[in-house]
Amino acid sequence: MRFVVLGASGYIGEAVQETIRAQGHRVVAVSRHGRGVGGAEGIAMNVQRDPVGSLLDGADGVLNLVGIIREAPAEGITYQALHVDATAKLVEAALKAGTPRYVQMSALGVSPRGGSRYFETKWEAEQLVRARLPHAVIVRPSLVFGGRADFFATLAGLAKNPVVPVPGDGHALFDPVFRGNLATVLASLLSAPAPDVAGQVYEIGGPVRMTLDAMIDWVAEVAGRRPPVPKLHMPLGLLRPLVSLGERVPAFPLTTDQLRMLNVPNITDDTRWHTWVPEPTPPGRDW
Ligand SMILES: NC(=O)c1ccc[n+]([C@@H]2O[C@H](COP(=O)([O-])OP(=O)(O)OC[C@H]3O[C@@H](n4cnc5c(N)ncnc54)[C@H](OP(=O)(O)O)[C@@H]3O)[C@@H](O)[C@H]2O)c1
Repeated sequence: MRFVVLGASGYIGEAVQETIRAQGHRVVAVSRHGRGVGGAEGIAMNVQRDPVGSLLDGADGVLNLVGIIREAPAEGITYQALHVDATAKLVEAALKAGTPRYVQMSALGVSPRGGSRYFETKWEAEQLVRARLPHAVIVRPSLVFGGRADFFATLAGLAKNPVVPVPGDGHALFDPVFRGNLATVLASLLSAPAPDVAGQVYEIGGPVRMTLDAMIDWVAEVAGRRPPVPKLHMPLGLLRPLVSLGERVPAFPLTTDQLRMLNVPNITDDTRWHTWVPEPTPPGRDW
C-alpha cells in the first residue's frame, strides 16, 4: 500500500516513515523540505500556502502529523493556521480524492476550552475531521519520549541546575509513551482493515504514570545524578508574568501556552492500542 505522511520530517514522522516501510508499504514523505528517510519518496509542500493538488491521488491512506508547539505570529505561524486551517484543507482534499484511510494526530489533553490554544486548536481540528470524514481515526498521545525528544532535552537541561526550577507544584501527571511504540500504532492504523478502526479515537499513554517531578528525576538519573534532585517549585501565578515577557525571545524555553499545557493532566486508561504493541516500552535510559 502507499501512504502519504504530512509532517514526515519531524520527530515522530521520521520514526513512522521507517515503520511503514518496515511493514512493507510505500511512504510519500511530505514536509516543507521534502526529504524522505531511507529511500522514501519526498515531496516539498508548505501546508499553509501550497495547494494539496494531486498529492493524495491513488493513495491508500494519509497521516496528518503537522503540528507546532510554539507559535511565531510574526511569520504567520499560528496554531490556528497549522492545526485547524491546514487540517481543513487536507480533509477536503481527502474527500475529493476518496482516500480510504485518514489518520489525524491530535494530543492527550485536548478540549474545547482548555485555556491552552494548542489543545483548543487540536480539538477544533478533531471536530472538523470527524464531521467531514466519519471513517477517520484520531490519535491522542501523551508526551512522547525516545531518541532525545525536545521536551525531555529541555528537562535534562533544567535538571543540570543544582536546584531544578519547576513550573507549578510538579504534581501534574503524564503517561510518557515511547516513540517506537507510537510509530508502530500509527503505521498499523494506516494499514488496519478499515472497519476495525474507522471512526475511533485512540488515546495512547505509556505503561508508567509519572508526575512532572518524577520525569525530572528520571532524566537527571539518566545523566548520572542521584534522585530525587532538589527542586524549586515556582507558583504559576508568579511565573506567568515572567514567561509572558520572556517568550518574546524565541530562545526562551517556555511559552504561556506551554505553561497552561503543563498543568493539564495528560493521562489515559485506554489500552486498545496494545493490540499492536502488546508490551509497551517503559521509560529507560533513552529519553
Ligand atoms: N512530540 C510529542 O510529544 C507529541 C505529543 C502529542 C502530540 N504530538 C503531535 O504529533 C505531531 C508530530 O509531532 P512532532 O513531535 O513530530 O513534531 P515536529 O518534530 O515539530 O514535527 C512537525 C512536522 O510538521 C511539519 N511542518 C511544520 N510546519 C509545516 C508547514 N507549514 N508545512 C508543512 N509541514 C510543516 C514539519 O516539517 P518541516 O519543518 O520539516 O517542514 C515536521 O515534519 C504534531 O501534530 C504534535 O502536535 C506530539
